[in-house]
Amino acid sequence: MQIEQGWQPSEIERLVDVENATASRLIFTDENLFRLELQRIFTRTWLYIGHESEIPKNGDYVTRKMGNDPVILVRDNTGRVRVLLNSCTHRGTLVCRTDSGHGRGFTCPYHGWVFSTSGALVATAEDNTYGGKVDFRSLDLRQARVGSYAGLVFATWNHDAPSLDQHLGDARWYLDIMFNRTPKGMTVLGLPHRWSPTNNWKLGPLNFGADGPHAVKVHGPIVDAALAGGMPGARAMITKALVDSPSVAAGPYNGIWTQGPLEMPPWFGYDPDLVALYKQTLKPEQVQILERCLASVGTVFPNFSWVYGPIGFDMQREPVTNFFAIRVWQPIAVNRTEIWNWFLVEEEAGEALKQQAMLAGVRTFTAGGTFDQDDAEAWHGIQRGSEGEISRTLDVNFQVALNYRDRPIADWPGPGVAYPRITARSRSSTTCCSGAPTCPARAEIRRQRLLPVCKRPAARLFLESSE
Ligand code: FES
Ligand code: FE
Repeated sequence: MQIEQGWQPSEIERLVDVENATASRLIFTDENLFRLELQRIFTRTWLYIGHESEIPKNGDYVTRKMGNDPVILVRDNTGRVRVLLNSCTHRGTLVCRTDSGHGRGFTCPYHGWVFSTSGALVATAEDNTYGGKVDFRSLDLRQARVGSYAGLVFATWNHDAPSLDQHLGDARWYLDIMFNRTPKGMTVLGLPHRWSPTNNWKLGPLNFGADGPHAVKVHGPIVDAALAGGMPGARAMITKALVDSPSVAAGPYNGIWTQGPLEMPPWFGYDPDLVALYKQTLKPEQVQILERCLASVGTVFPNFSWVYGPIGFDMQREPVTNFFAIRVWQPIAVNRTEIWNWFLVEEEAGEALKQQAMLAGVRTFTAGGTFDQDDAEAWHGIQRGSEGEISRTLDVNFQVALNYRDRPIADWPGPGVAYPRITARSRSSTTCCSGAPTCPARAEIRRQRLLPVCKRPAARLFLESSE
């Protein structure tokens, strides 16, 4: 598809072929489409802003972004959490220039207008010069609509949008497993880590929403070193967990994959004291999922994700510890994203466990983390491999879905629709041959519009090379 200028609605509809499970690569490379995303998604839907534990006291604030708009997340002097546009209503400069802080309000550095923590304009430097002709009440900082769930603060500029509860939909049940599983809930460990990879913002949410099997190939060596080291048979078990991960469509957009076949030892990497709290707090069906959960990864539309799992780099000397990272994929340009990443732990966890969880997270899911370096290289490659004049005319292939989307797991204990795995199984489930055009298996695969796994399917290649 060649689009020179702008986009017509009918053209946008043609970008994604749901029936055939493909999408135009222009979703990663087109500048005009990127601009439309900022306008039509990031100003209209709920966006993750921060965690309540980042602003525990009245007057605490942090600065964030909603799309390309700077905002302040603040707990006002009554304790209410607010999200204010960080743009002075006088000439528009940033009224708050620090990443975080505490105060009674915000004084604009240009002409000195003062705003309270609730965003009200409370003083101007030129009160006497306006001659009573200006309604200063109309010059409060612009406020976003705020919603909070399990300590997660979201906001939207769209006052007509469905409620946050409706937006999260079935994902709430899974968010409870991750964020609401002890009486005191989660707390953020330290400041956010931020870095800026050279790829479109959607590659991260897609990966975290439904791509467990990529880990078998791209993270294979580090899975051996960080997860499987010293554990007999661990590589095979982890590979099976990655390939056989159930994938849940929790609402129209939210995707979650949770890893852990029944062969997993229960509560692998979990603190026993916390496990007792999980059992008190969660429903039995939620405990059933969590106790066999080797890792949980998910995305809430459009750009909020989490990843959770056990890490043990040196099992002889350190206990295997679960890390828990949450992040937003901030759109900067069509080919540049800023990742904001936080680590979380249960408020009830002891200091030693908090430090271990932080260390496990920093080693894996940060700019210098082992897993993020792997992914960043692959995503950089997608961007470079999709922005040429020829390559941008091709599709992104999601056709593995054709094999599973009509076969959801019938007895899945949670809400949403769960599918047995996210990719084609390796040798055992497909018979392969020479790949000749006349190959009957290939013809059958084509007939079913499956990924052509006969000769050189990417999915099959990475499974075979990792076994
Ligand atoms: Fe803020 Fe003038 S721009 S006081
Ligand atoms: Fe990854």
